[in-house]
Amino acid sequence: MTGAYQSEAGPTAIKPEPLGRVLVVVPTYNEAINVARTVGRVRAAVPDAHVLVVDDNSPDGTGKIADGLAAEDPAVHVLHRAGKEGLGAAYLAGFAWALERDYGTVVELDADGSHQPEQLPLLLERLLTADLVLGSRYVRGGKVVNWPRSREVLSRGGNIYTRLALGIGLQDATGGYRAFRRRTLEALDLETVHSQGYCFQVDLAWRAVRAGFRVAEVPITFVEREHGESKMSGPIVREALLRVTLWGAMDLPSRARRLVRRPAGG
Ligand code: GDD
Ligand code: MN
Repeated sequence: MTGAYQSEAGPTAIKPEPLGRVLVVVPTYNEAINVARTVGRVRAAVPDAHVLVVDDNSPDGTGKIADGLAAEDPAVHVLHRAGKEGLGAAYLAGFAWALERDYGTVVELDADGSHQPEQLPLLLERLLTADLVLGSRYVRGGKVVNWPRSREVLSRGGNIYTRLALGIGLQDATGGYRAFRRRTLEALDLETVHSQGYCFQVDLAWRAVRAGFRVAEVPITFVEREHGESKMSGPIVREALLRVTLWGAMDLPSRARRLVRRPAGG
């Protein structure tokens, strides 16, 4: 795509770099039915990885259940927050917790069973030669199972709009299953992230691409939750539309400069 950011490095003559200790951050709001199963699947799929549940004081008692899991398994941790402040704020708190400790890799994973922990080794393997790996529903081999048509249209449309507005070549910049290297998170100026809802995902992907990090996509199978409810809402969609549009507009001058600087035929 002309004028687009180059999101992936060229031929991989790149040396694999060790990942360090892995922390899987799982944000929860009213996931009492799901949290134990998801944490258990992560622990089984990648036994060396630690898990941090970030609960926003869920009224259904998710936080208590998570405390029980942590009491039984020293690799499980819980961060309790006072109230529901959105997915973005929960992840920022989880990332800060990770960066205060000795983790080399931080993973995002939904609590509701949509992201398959059994696919985590694929993301981690790809991260050996990348700085950020996105689990992608929309690259070859990626899938969405059991989504209503309306939700798929929203997600695909959101990704098309994101590509056009920001000029990035990512197929799934809105997804929430991803793995960061520590140094990537450290470089993204997380204090200046204001995205509250699901546009948090686009925000971080966009920051990583602009910072010149190697952002890779690997196919995942996203399975719609069987229990509980999605927290997707009108205000979350509106925030995303507004912010992505603003970011794109603010980037237009530098995008124009990149176009001019691009060598002929490049
Ligand atoms: N702590 C906390 N606070 N957790 C939250 C909040 C919040 O305000 N809002 C949502 N979560 C948790 C949910 O409990 C779940 O574990 C995870 O975040 C994803 O929320 P869902 O409500 O299940 O999201 P979704 O299935 O509609 O959306 C998924 O796909 C989107 C892309 O289409 C998520 O993966 C999104 O991150 C992603 O952008
Ligand atoms: Mn979900």
